Amino acid sequence: MTEKTDSQKILVLLGSPRKKGNSTTLAEQIVKGAEAAGATVEKIYLHGQNIAPCQACYACRKPDSKGCAIDDDMQPIYKKLIEADGWVIASPVYWFSMSAQTKLFLDRCFALLSYKKGAFAGKRIAVAMSYADADPFISGCVNALRTFQDAFAYVKANIVGMVYGSADKPGEIKSNQALMAEAEALGRQLAKS
Ligand SMILES: Cc1cc2nc3c(=O)[nH]c(=O)nc-3n(C[C@H](O)[C@H](O)[C@H](O)COP(=O)(O)O)c2cc1C
Repeated sequence: MTEKTDSQKILVLLGSPRKKGNSTTLAEQIVKGAEAAGATVEKIYLHGQNIAPCQACYACRKPDSKGCAIDDDMQPIYKKLIEADGWVIASPVYWFSMSAQTKLFLDRCFALLSYKKGAFAGKRIAVAMSYADADPFISGCVNALRTFQDAFAYVKANIVGMVYGSADKPGEIKSNQALMAEAEALGRQLAKS
């Protein structure tokens, strides 16, 4: 029997400090869909990783660059980001944008191209966000969604879909069944090559 080798690799970046929080719950639902469609999934909780802010040294932009000059937990993540076919980025809304954990990660992605030319191009991306306000505009969620849209359009990555909803207590978002179904469907879509 020949082994199946075409399964999509999905890397999940979780940007909430709450391990059973709402954005993580949404991401888990995306994972459920992706795994049902045959993908292999790895999750990384950004909170608790040693990820320093970008120091704007531009070492990653030098012609002979060996990558990001900061030797911390982003180094193995760069490798995983490159190897994955798709990424799930999950974040709560904090102060009308993404969480600091997510933004630190995003800023450090500035160096990804120094590990592989065109590293973002065609990368399939799903975004999951939660917020306490009832409205995605008033909560500030839309600011973060726009950031992801602009950033990933700039580097020619492909946002497959974005799921987001209102909830406050950890896991409360589960009661939004329509959103849960939407997230699972996004996972199936993400896992398509
Ligand atoms: C520091 C902090 C800032 C927050 N800022 C906002 C905000 O600007 N808008 C909003 O609607 N909710 C805000 N919230 C509420 C969270 O977005 C909300 O509880 C969300 O569901 C948390 O997601 P999580 O469970 O994945 O951490 C904030 C919560 C915290 C702790």
